[in-house]
Amino acid sequence: MRSSLAEVLGLEVGLLQSGMGGVAGAELACAVSNAGAGGCVGGYKLVDEALSAILDRLTTGTDRPVGVNLIPEVVGPEELDRQLAQVLAETPQNVYVSLFGMPDDAVFERVVAAGRHLVVQVGTVEDGVHAAERGAVVVAQGIEAGGHLLGTSQRDDLVAALRERLPEACIVASGGIGSPAEAERAVAAGADGVLLGTAFVVAHESRAHSQFKSAVTAADETDTVITDVYEIGWTGRRHRVLATAVTADPDQPKKFIGKTVVEGKPYLVPRFSSAVPTTATTGRIEEMALYCGQSCSAVSQETSAADVVAGFASVLPGAELASN
Ligand SMILES: Cc1cc2nc3c(=O)[nH]c(=O)nc-3n(C[C@H](O)[C@H](O)[C@H](O)COP(=O)(O)O)c2cc1C
Repeated sequence: MRSSLAEVLGLEVGLLQSGMGGVAGAELACAVSNAGAGGCVGGYKLVDEALSAILDRLTTGTDRPVGVNLIPEVVGPEELDRQLAQVLAETPQNVYVSLFGMPDDAVFERVVAAGRHLVVQVGTVEDGVHAAERGAVVVAQGIEAGGHLLGTSQRDDLVAALRERLPEACIVASGGIGSPAEAERAVAAGADGVLLGTAFVVAHESRAHSQFKSAVTAADETDTVITDVYEIGWTGRRHRVLATAVTADPDQPKKFIGKTVVEGKPYLVPRFSSAVPTTATTGRIEEMALYCGQSCSAVSQETSAADVVAGFASVLPGAELASN
């Protein structure tokens, strides 16, 4: 029997917040989960003490369903193994694992054997079927999405194609959803819930740089472009960003344009870096990777994470068990 996302994960609102590296720290993830949806921290390249620190803040901040996002293609199989071992050892059962793109089959087995929910974002029907058959909740990402792009399909075309192949799987729609009306369209195409990234970039609890937040609230979808210029740190994938002087002229020199700090460690930011500007970043913010989905057309003000979740509650009702 087909279950809604809310029933599968035990949520009050059938909505997931994307674990966005740099932007989605424990504060955002816990605020979303405590508001009844599924929050998620961005694990990105964090490992050892830096990963432990964020896991600690996550598990002390909520006992509701909440996720840790990892990116197999960025870290490679060995580092992913280390990150996963830490997540499974250092967090309780309410913490689910979220992956951007497909891992090796052994990863599916390991997470499922640990009794954790696994949420995998895909961009093709083939990957979605593979992930669902191995027990994952499938997030179908369309090209409307902000950030790195896994496929070339429009969101609702991919959702509908996956639904046809997987009548009973839990399928979540991602990409371009900034309003309840857009979420309803995705549900009509066959989704059991939705995942939002851009709408949470501008949440008060997000760690996105204030200039990044203002640029997102001021933008509409025509201000976004698909490019591959922000490739230092994450090569080989196209991404949707706000158009910048760098996307307009990618022949500029590869020099350092800013500084940042990640979990207490300082880094220089080169032009073309895949890292987003955060509250800890200084320099030429306007030239950095400002990942942004077409959903920005419906995102016009900074607000709390709880208000974002509340805005979608009526169209993505929660699990019966959560409201009893
Ligand atoms: C600023 C930003 C950073 C992102 N970083 C990640 C990430 O680290 N891991 C991940 O799984 N997805 C990441 N994504 C992609 C989202 O998971 C999702 O595909 C996208 O946000 C959906 O489209 P929307 O932005 O229109 O809601 C990011 C998206 C944005 C906007």
